[in-house]
Amino acid sequence: MEMIKLDLKNVYDFIPEQEIRGMQQEVSESMHKLNAGTGAGNDYLGWLNLPSSISEEDFNAIEKTARRLRKTSEIVVVIGIGGSYLGAKAVNDALSDNFATWRKNRKNPLMIFAGHNIDEDYMHELIRLLDDCTYSIVVISKSGTTTEPAIAFRILREHLVGKIGTEKACERIVAITDGSKGALRKLADQEGYESYVIPDDVGGRFSVLTPVGLVPLAVAGFDIRGLVAGAVEMEQAARTEPSMDKNPAALYAATRNALYRKGKKIEILVNYHSKLHYVAEWWKQLYGESEGKDGKGIFPAAVDNSSDLHSMGQYIQEGERILFETVLSIGETDNEMVVPKDEDNLDGLNYLSGKKIDDVNKMAELGTTLAHVDGGVPNLRIVVPQLNARYLGQLMYFFELACGISGYMLEVNPFNQPGVEAYKKNMFALLEKPGFEAETRKIKDRI
Ligand code: PA5
Repeated sequence: MEMIKLDLKNVYDFIPEQEIRGMQQEVSESMHKLNAGTGAGNDYLGWLNLPSSISEEDFNAIEKTARRLRKTSEIVVVIGIGGSYLGAKAVNDALSDNFATWRKNRKNPLMIFAGHNIDEDYMHELIRLLDDCTYSIVVISKSGTTTEPAIAFRILREHLVGKIGTEKACERIVAITDGSKGALRKLADQEGYESYVIPDDVGGRFSVLTPVGLVPLAVAGFDIRGLVAGAVEMEQAARTEPSMDKNPAALYAATRNALYRKGKKIEILVNYHSKLHYVAEWWKQLYGESEGKDGKGIFPAAVDNSSDLHSMGQYIQEGERILFETVLSIGETDNEMVVPKDEDNLDGLNYLSGKKIDDVNKMAELGTTLAHVDGGVPNLRIVVPQLNARYLGQLMYFFELACGISGYMLEVNPFNQPGVEAYKKNMFALLEKPGFEAETRKIKDRI
């Protein structure tokens, strides 16, 4: 199997190759910290060997659950937020037909999300949809106490019980949470829901290959074995290989840090395929939560091209020169379609007739890369031969490993997210949650 590749030729005008290679010592030290478990956040390194530790029994159990839910569900509602939903959403969208929602006679349940917002209209409209459909619920929360998914689960649980009765509803709910702690664990044990455990040593944003990602993806009919196989390939190729010559994740980590140190403070993940939008959202969370702390960190942004070439393209070409781009460059498309010939040629497009749409897309990609490089934006390119489960597995592990290495190079703890608590504290104080009385008084004085 071919591997995804990192192409840096459009970086070297900005940073000489030797300068990046000169960071080898630093990369090796960061990798040593990861693999020896001696760095900050070392309680959360379970994702490192996760792909290769998934056993046949694990797959069988997940596939059994999936078969059971698939029989009774047109829709699988996945309740979760942050790392408890973005992995499944990213894979779902990357590997689905763009118009899956509208296809008649779908053979797989449709994956729909809840609990990633506190949007009353969203919930109301979701309930209206679910009134008319059969569905099951996969509720995911590692802590088991996150407010957004907890509210959504309370509403959906009540709806499902009202619709099909307590006993049947119980059979259609799967909980994925901590093995012993948290409100969701208590609820699952008390109500008798089937449940899966999120390993203690795997944080939310690194959890796509635990039941957090694999259970909903299996229910919706995706090739979870292919996804994991791809991740295993990258784990074997890169996890313990410190040399940047052989390890693309190490090279990516070094390059982005080298650019950051030269004032390139924003990294834009660029795609030319609509299906990759949520891969970028997953990547934003992975890097944003892992690196943005202690007053440091590259700001992860994303664009969907061609669409964003007609909006953000102006800024990228000519705005403040604090940007670099990482392009997800897809090799082959799944389908073939050419630009038709038109005898009248009133639109002047006959110079393209007979060309594959993807050939035009690739010239848009290359033309944009060269223009942005000319405009002072360094460009990294990740070459993904095809958008399938296996390469996606490689890509996700590649980004996770690079994130761990990069976080240590930045000298932060890449595995915590203390900043996420600040909004929660204020929200609880404003909502007068029991136990927050002092904070409530304080915040009320302020507003
Ligand atoms: O990466 C993380 O740890 C977070 O984004 C969490 O996934 C997110 O806050 C949801 O947490 P939980 O699964 O505990 O509900």
